[in-house]
Amino acid sequence: MLALLIPEALAQFYAPALRKLLPGVEVLIDGDACFEEADFAVAIAPPPGRLAAMAKLRCIMAPGAGVDHILADPAYPAHIPLVRMVQPDLLLRMKEYIFLHVLRHHRRMPDYEQQQRELKWQNIWPQKAAGERCVGILGLGELGAPIARELAAFGFEVAGWSRRVKKLPGIECHHGAEGLRETLRKSEILVNLLPATGETWRLLDAERLGWLPCGASIINAGRGATVDEAALLKALDAGMIDAATLDVFVTEPLPADSPLWIHPRVTITPHCASAVTPEALAHGVRRTMTEIETGSPPEQLVDLLRGY
Ligand code: NDP
Ligand code: OXD
Repeated sequence: MLALLIPEALAQFYAPALRKLLPGVEVLIDGDACFEEADFAVAIAPPPGRLAAMAKLRCIMAPGAGVDHILADPAYPAHIPLVRMVQPDLLLRMKEYIFLHVLRHHRRMPDYEQQQRELKWQNIWPQKAAGERCVGILGLGELGAPIARELAAFGFEVAGWSRRVKKLPGIECHHGAEGLRETLRKSEILVNLLPATGETWRLLDAERLGWLPCGASIINAGRGATVDEAALLKALDAGMIDAATLDVFVTEPLPADSPLWIHPRVTITPHCASAVTPEALAHGVRRTMTEIETGSPPEQLVDLLRGY
């Protein structure tokens, strides 16, 4: 039995594809009889203690890349494997989002949008070519590494930052505290693709935002908790940061009274950079269930100590 411990509308959206690909599995929506008896669960931000109360669980799956919304549960049953689902489709959509916004900042679209509001016809020229611009990527994982590679193949200078030492052809790879300074120091366009963990919480605070080149742009598609929003607003108002594209926020949905909504140099998207499709989720669930049934280590097992 597979329990969908996710918002009802999403459960209704995912269930048909799961039932189609897994005809022998009973797919249960919260409230169905025997829901608590399920041996597998797909979870999004489960109510604290709910997973721990499901005594027969053998595996918990996150229908995407991040697992912070599951590990936020202080009663998370740590003896049960947690598996995430980063699939080619999820990467492709994230790649589209990052390219869209990197190019938008690179070609100074926020300035042209401002000029349009002022009915101003003025070419901003000369502009840097891709090879003269450094894009920094925080997080060189399943999403960050291939995106860094493609930005480099496109012609950008690319610097990246990870926790462990990494070697990626064509990318200037950094790690650790000193490596963060090096990466930020040269990132004219900074892309955040870090997971939300204790270590990445408010990583981009006032001091570290100050390490960026004056006039840098920021794209946050990782998690809102990594950026100190008040410090970002101050840096934008001071012109130290030129513009920001934000897909993720400390509080989601972004509260109506957040000054980010109306800031002229901020572009907001509602946590939509990428998302798993029902078909991709069904394939990931099938693969994970087979791995658990056959005793093979799941391909995308989360390290609970690292938190990602
Ligand atoms: P991975 O777990 O594959 O990669 C995470 C990367 O971050 C790794 O390179 C890791 O380093 C690095 N990292 C983690 N902690 C630290 C740290 N303390 N210091 C330096 N580097 C660190 O994640 P994915 O690439 O699959 O996904 C990244 C995040 O993107 C997700 O966790 C999620 O939050 C976000 N996301 C957002 C979406 C959206 O729609 N906005 C959609 C999908 C994902 P190392 O390589 O050394 O382990
Ligand atoms: C994810 C997300 O983590 O959609 O997959 O944010």
